[in-house]
Amino acid sequence: MFWLRLVCSVLFFLAEGSWSLKSVRIRVPEVVKSGETVTLSCEYDLEEVALYTIKWYWKDVEFYRFVPKESPPFRAFTMKYINVDISRSGPTQVTLRGVRRELTGDYKCEVSADGPLFHTDIKVAHMIVAELPNGNPMMNIEQTKVEIGKKIKADCYSPGSDPAANLTWFINDEQVSEETDSVKLHPIEIETDNALGLHSAKSRIEITTNRAHFILGFMVVKCDARIYSLWHRVVEDHVRDDTPQLAPVLGSTSSQSQVDEIIDGNGSGHLGFSALCVVNFLLVMVVLR
Ligand SMILES: *[C@@H]1O[C@H](CO)[C@@H](O)[C@H](O)[C@H]1NC(C)=O
Ligand SMILES: *[C@@H]1O[C@H](CO)[C@@H](O)[C@H](O)[C@H]1NC(C)=O
Repeated sequence: MFWLRLVCSVLFFLAEGSWSLKSVRIRVPEVVKSGETVTLSCEYDLEEVALYTIKWYWKDVEFYRFVPKESPPFRAFTMKYINVDISRSGPTQVTLRGVRRELTGDYKCEVSADGPLFHTDIKVAHMIVAELPNGNPMMNIEQTKVEIGKKIKADCYSPGSDPAANLTWFINDEQVSEETDSVKLHPIEIETDNALGLHSAKSRIEITTNRAHFILGFMVVKCDARIYSLWHRVVEDHVRDDTPQLAPVLGSTSSQSQVDEIIDGNGSGHLGFSALCVVNFLLVMVVLR
């Protein structure tokens, strides 16, 4: 009798061939906003066999089960923070209303096919529930007029969120991804409000200005704050060139280029200026006479 049963099982197994529940696929959003309604789904192909149960777990604790043979076929288990929308849950999905940050974690769906084999497969996926800041990022630039060659400091602050926002700097639309001779990036400071469990982010940049920064006439400093793909804000300010106007005035007059030619293009600034002085002086002398 025992042998017969064994042979039967083996035959059955072989007849099933490659059949298994390998086709189970879980679909859970990677990141969602706190307060949203979220549908998690589990797709499977049981081929000819009926569904026996589908169970949903959060951090290994079952919160929802669907068993077609039972009446009613579903059961939602009471669990802190989890609020199942029964009307939008069933054999292939479960809907959670008003998800909270505490629900960040691993979700599992376990599918079992009906007898005699009760094949079972389980799939897992991670979901992050993020708390967005309740305000925009702020930027403060110490001085918005600067002499070329001098430093400016800019601070960017993004109010409390979970996780903290990612802050990135841009100078004239070019991302500052690393420090250079002219840019110093201070380490990002994350401050945690323990009561609220929220993290604010602060970033400081120091820019030693050069002529290239002011190609547009001003320099655009931009702070970009992001939380995954859920939230994105940009704050920007302009810094003006406050270099004493002497050199640019000289550069823009036609006499300057003539003077430059005279002095062979060497050390144009000061030599050019003194040469121009001499010319002016001579002109003045001519006029006075
Ligand atoms: C911040 O940026 C890193 C690197 O690109 C990324 O892995 C991380 O998910 C981002 N965090 C947030 C909160 O957007
Ligand atoms: C430019 O000036 C430097 C010193 O100020 C001098 O050594 C050099 O020969 C000059 N060059 C020309 C082209 O006049």
